[in-house]
Amino acid sequence: MSEILFEPFRIKVVEPIKMSTREEREIFIREAGYNVFNLRAEDVLIDLLTDSGTSAMSQEQWAALQTGDESYAGSKSFFALESIAKEIFQKHTIIPVHQGRAGEHLVFSTLVSEGDIVPSNSHFDTTAANVADNGGNPVNFQIEEALDASCWHPFKGNMNIEKLEKLLETESEKVPFVVLTITNNAGGGQPVSLANVKQVADVCEKFDKPLLIDACRFAENAYFIKKREEGYSDWSAKEIAQEVFRYASLVTFSAKKDALANVGGLVCLDDADLAEKLKNRLIVTEGFPTYGGLAGRDLAAIAQGLKEVLDENYLRYRLRTIEWMVERLVDNGVPVVVPAGGHAFYLDVARFLPHLSAEQLPGIAIVVELYVRGGIRAVELGHVAFGKQLDSGCDMHPRLDLVRFAMPRRVYTEAHAGYVVEQIIRLYHDKDNVKGYRFYFEAPVMRHFRSTFAPLVPGTSHGVSFYHT
Ligand SMILES: Cc1ncc(COP(=O)(O)O)c(C=O)c1O
Repeated sequence: MSEILFEPFRIKVVEPIKMSTREEREIFIREAGYNVFNLRAEDVLIDLLTDSGTSAMSQEQWAALQTGDESYAGSKSFFALESIAKEIFQKHTIIPVHQGRAGEHLVFSTLVSEGDIVPSNSHFDTTAANVADNGGNPVNFQIEEALDASCWHPFKGNMNIEKLEKLLETESEKVPFVVLTITNNAGGGQPVSLANVKQVADVCEKFDKPLLIDACRFAENAYFIKKREEGYSDWSAKEIAQEVFRYASLVTFSAKKDALANVGGLVCLDDADLAEKLKNRLIVTEGFPTYGGLAGRDLAAIAQGLKEVLDENYLRYRLRTIEWMVERLVDNGVPVVVPAGGHAFYLDVARFLPHLSAEQLPGIAIVVELYVRGGIRAVELGHVAFGKQLDSGCDMHPRLDLVRFAMPRRVYTEAHAGYVVEQIIRLYHDKDNVKGYRFYFEAPVMRHFRSTFAPLVPGTSHGVSFYHT
């Protein structure tokens, strides 16, 4: 058996990367208000902004697009999707939506009321925003190990059971359901063990609460269980995924991740009364329940993607890619969240740029520098994304300040991965020369998407903006 694990696919269609110079990128980022979300994608060399909707589809998915049935109602592509989704997610009703957050909106606007509390192992930004948008309070109950980027734990995505029980013992009537995100994206792409899924389900049963699984990366989570949890090495990734979903009452799913599709999402459930309510609401917001805001061809591509994603050769390569990058970063002393996540690796910002305070937005500084120096696009998931200014004027910081590098599925090769690692190591060696940033425009919610920034000018308390002048 060879030590070399190669990409388990051949490349048949190529998309050229437009090359740019450092000088050009300095102009592009200034014009973008130092927010990489404002860049034109063609001005990025290696785009690790997100793994969402960025997968390369297989030849079978492209073929499925051609045969997509565009009927308004009862499309055969819907039934193909329903069939594979029922098999994996183990639920009677499958409702398509145009992307994950549309499913969250559908469910949360039906189940969450003003003053509710929605606990999770780790809400992603859109789930947290959808809870808050309906007057609820999203709370995260991570295990202690998850809050230490350098602590090695096989299932850092696990829910803190003690905290969950405590909340339900005291404020059960305010909790409409419990959310388990697999894998957890906000905290490092870390998996949840099957033991933890069962424990959470037991607590939910005790307090008569539905368990909602946010299943974006269910296949990656299943393969982590196979590799790391005792008792599952002989199970297939598919059997593990099915077992996980048996414990859920509701599933929300973004097909832009582990369905290897570029758009789409699902809500899956057994509760017939709730399904009725959701379908009626769906018609107002997304469309008829057999297309849910998607074209028939999209339904077909998602169905085919769901058939492919549990292939263990694919999953082995997928998880190993991130692990390989993390190993090289660790070997070179770069502070990175360990163990490696499933879809991304995350730099530990506070240890990467210890000379900058949280107010000097070190995560933004790393993201901007890597773009300028290497043309790489990553995303800040720390103080800017998850922090906020309290009414008192004080800043509230999240426990982890991270920069995420998310790998699109089946898109980049080992040489691309090697280049990214090399650029990060070089930046780390030159970290003392990296300057801070400040907000120029602060967006009211999910600040990382739409805020703009200005570099801090050494020797002054504020920076100069080149953007809105
Ligand atoms: C864990 C998690 N939940 C929900 C979503 C929302 O999915 P979508 O982008 O399809 O709306 C995301 C997207 O990144 C996610 O990572």
